[in-house]
Amino acid sequence: MACELPALLRPSSRMAGFYRRPLAERVATIAALVDTGQLSAASAAWLRDGGGLELAAADRMSENVVAIAGLPLSVALNLRVNHVDHLVPMAIEEPSVVAAASAAARLVRLAGGFTGDADAPIMTAQIHVDGVDDVAGAGARIGAHAGELCALGDRAIPRMVARGGGCRDATCRVLDADGGAVVVELGVDVGDAMGANLVDTVAEAVAARIGELLGGVIVLRILSNLALRRLARAQAEVSAEALGGDLLADGVVRASRFAELDVARAATHNKGTMNGIDAAAVALGQDWRAIEAGAHAFAALGCGSGSERRPARGSAYGPLATWRRTASGVCGTIELPMAVGTVGGATRTPGVRAALELCNVSGARQLAVVLAAVGLASNLGALRALAGEGIQRGHMRLHARRLDPATALAAPGEGGGR
Ligand code: MEV
Repeated sequence: MACELPALLRPSSRMAGFYRRPLAERVATIAALVDTGQLSAASAAWLRDGGGLELAAADRMSENVVAIAGLPLSVALNLRVNHVDHLVPMAIEEPSVVAAASAAARLVRLAGGFTGDADAPIMTAQIHVDGVDDVAGAGARIGAHAGELCALGDRAIPRMVARGGGCRDATCRVLDADGGAVVVELGVDVGDAMGANLVDTVAEAVAARIGELLGGVIVLRILSNLALRRLARAQAEVSAEALGGDLLADGVVRASRFAELDVARAATHNKGTMNGIDAAAVALGQDWRAIEAGAHAFAALGCGSGSERRPARGSAYGPLATWRRTASGVCGTIELPMAVGTVGGATRTPGVRAALELCNVSGARQLAVVLAAVGLASNLGALRALAGEGIQRGHMRLHARRLDPATALAAPGEGGGR
């Protein structure tokens, strides 16, 4: 049973001046979270030992392994989502990503933090059938056998069914009536898993029966990475004063509008949004390629959110995060597919366990909302810099750390989370 921590021990993501402290002190501060119950003893030991992966473990994870490729593991600070604090582990080589997300999260925190929610974890299995004679009748035939197909799929994933997940529905879409191409889609509740293996198992388990029902040739049996039924959303408000004045608030909103009007800008705007999401996803052992695929396919559905999502002018590709003016400042929203898991896959490796503990999430849905909020923070950090002094000063200051740490630390600006 979860027990309420005393207020003083409740983990906070606000650590003023953290970036200024020596590395050993930062490690000690984070590893000491073992005392609050947020970190396990094993994770604290992993952090104190400098993190990483043993070569033997790496060899079990992949093929043709010859060494370990390293990335720094940082924590982005200040994130509060739905009144809960989260330290966001980020594995990335670009220092401004951690700094910008932390700085933007601090501004949002001043107004109470992010709010957000995520859909139930329903993924889609696709069974692609070609050469179907009666495409007009295919939908009705699949509809009539949906329960049978779901039961067949469930038998292939008994442990997920025992945990409360499983196949929820089966539908059919005609892709090309003349060529007889259809796709049958099963919605699969994957619980706290990312779900790719489960969904692929279901797709393969039901394919032969679908072939009997529809005729034609079964071609592909695979999940869709456009996880449209597994969207995550986050919202944030920031006062103009916190942003640095009305001119900056106007600038952030104009920058958002630019991305809504121009696909060339929308791509860069979304790259900045995904900077933080990808970095956190790598640290958290998620399939970041799947998240990227889903995000950009979703962005190609236009801009705006929910049923109001519409093609951006001149192109269907639009920004994932948008900002509007309020009486006192700006408010931002983000919505994107978020197929992430807190069980299975790489989540068993010690570093990922430690990252998940730091992130302070109880399951996949909460993680999805946190990552959406990280995306919104990254986007705000970028737009605020772009609308103000420009991106290069902060970038160059942080890059200078590589050459001369003393100079980089002494300079004011966007650095490590304040
Ligand atoms: C750089 O990694 C990301 C930015 O280009 C994002 C943006 O332009 O919004 C700064």
